[in-house]
Amino acid sequence: MADRPRPGAPVRVALLGSGGSIGTQAVDVLTRLAPDWRVVALATGSRAALVEEQARRLRPAAVAIGTDAPLDLPTGCAQVRGPDALEALAARDDVDLVVVGTAGVVSLRPVLAALRVGTVVATANKETLVAGGHLVMAEARALAAGRAAADPRDPLASPLGWLRPIDSEHSAIWQCLVGEALADVAGLILTASGGPFLDTPAGDFAGITPERALRHPTWSMGAKITIDSATLANKGLEVVEAHWLYGLPYERIDVVVHPQSVVHSAVRFRDGSLKAQLGTPDMRLPIQYAVTYPRRLPSPAAAVDLVAAGHLDFRAPDEVRFPALRIAREAGAIGSRATAALIAADEVAVGRFLAGTLDFPGIASLLERAVARYGSGPGQEPGVDELVALDAEVRAAFAAPGAGPGRGTVPDPAA
Ligand SMILES: NC(=O)c1ccc[n+]([C@@H]2O[C@H](COP(=O)([O-])OP(=O)(O)OC[C@H]3O[C@@H](n4cnc5c(N)ncnc54)[C@H](OP(=O)(O)O)[C@@H]3O)[C@@H](O)[C@H]2O)c1
Repeated sequence: MADRPRPGAPVRVALLGSGGSIGTQAVDVLTRLAPDWRVVALATGSRAALVEEQARRLRPAAVAIGTDAPLDLPTGCAQVRGPDALEALAARDDVDLVVVGTAGVVSLRPVLAALRVGTVVATANKETLVAGGHLVMAEARALAAGRAAADPRDPLASPLGWLRPIDSEHSAIWQCLVGEALADVAGLILTASGGPFLDTPAGDFAGITPERALRHPTWSMGAKITIDSATLANKGLEVVEAHWLYGLPYERIDVVVHPQSVVHSAVRFRDGSLKAQLGTPDMRLPIQYAVTYPRRLPSPAAAVDLVAAGHLDFRAPDEVRFPALRIAREAGAIGSRATAALIAADEVAVGRFLAGTLDFPGIASLLERAVARYGSGPGQEPGVDELVALDAEVRAAFAAPGAGPGRGTVPDPAA
């Protein structure tokens, strides 16, 4: 499948998570790129009316919805049902590129299924890499090695040609690395906006409401990632993601707070040079780069106006007020069981914060408990079944109403 698309033929795309923040922006990008890129499969979790409307507009061959509710689809468009629907769409032999905009570990199996049949994946989804980075990168590296043997300059001779990051920081690093050798990289710098509470005293954290935490200063994103940005858990997850994508040890991946969100990330080289990628905070740019790579095409994202930006500020992150960053780093150093526990716990913690049963500092407390309780021990390279089971176990343990008083301290459910 990697030899497709045939010259002159459209690139055929499966879009997973089409109803979400990334998914709807990907629909916008792909609509503008038509007819050279064509959506042949769509999947969302629960938004039936939205995916029906997308199907009428994009005319895919197949659509799936997580609830399996019957859909009203146009003629020629089949509904794919069942627990393996996402995998079935991702591994279709008429798909050249899978774009992943789902939240959670639900996309781990579909991403592996796509790579195993030699289909390129562009992913915004963090959970796939944070929990299963060891699995997906092994597939991407094997595919790239096959290409490199024939032609080292082939864009698919790099694992990043196969597993293309959409997350803006990782896209920025990827863009900085084009034409460079990984051996020349001294380190990575991930930028963080710092979120809405960058200057809020720690003493005020217990009173932070979901409404305030959902007001991100620079990016417009889904609710989960917006709360993760406020706690800096998002940056912690991105450090783990970067470790897997670029194969660098954690001590060579730094985080710098940059409130304007114009510098999306940077790479330090061994000669002392620093390369950064700058852009307006618009996810359509990294989505499009991953879709059209190695080509750059006009996009709806506005270019950065450096004079209007005026000044760009940078400062060190405060891991005392924002312990989630430290906890994620520590989980990464332990291994994939720990990061899988972290990501499952984070989904529970954010859900509970939004529901009002956990306060803002309680999010980090819950993460720390989950990593300590479920992350340690041998077997730090779990298989998919083990990861999915661990995810369910952590969720069940911490989601229960009794799994914490909700006002900052979270007891260990196993205690
Ligand atoms: N939003 C951003 O700007 C941004 C930036 C960088 C990275 N990311 C990452 O991208 C991922 C998605 O984020 P988001 O903000 O777009 O989340 P979101 O708005 O919550 O969207 C998630 C999507 O996943 C779908 N989904 C959930 N379960 C599914 C299932 N079983 N089958 C099919 N689809 C399913 C949802 O469907 P329904 O809505 O229909 O239920 C929705 O379309 C996350 O990993 C996030 O960290 C997001």
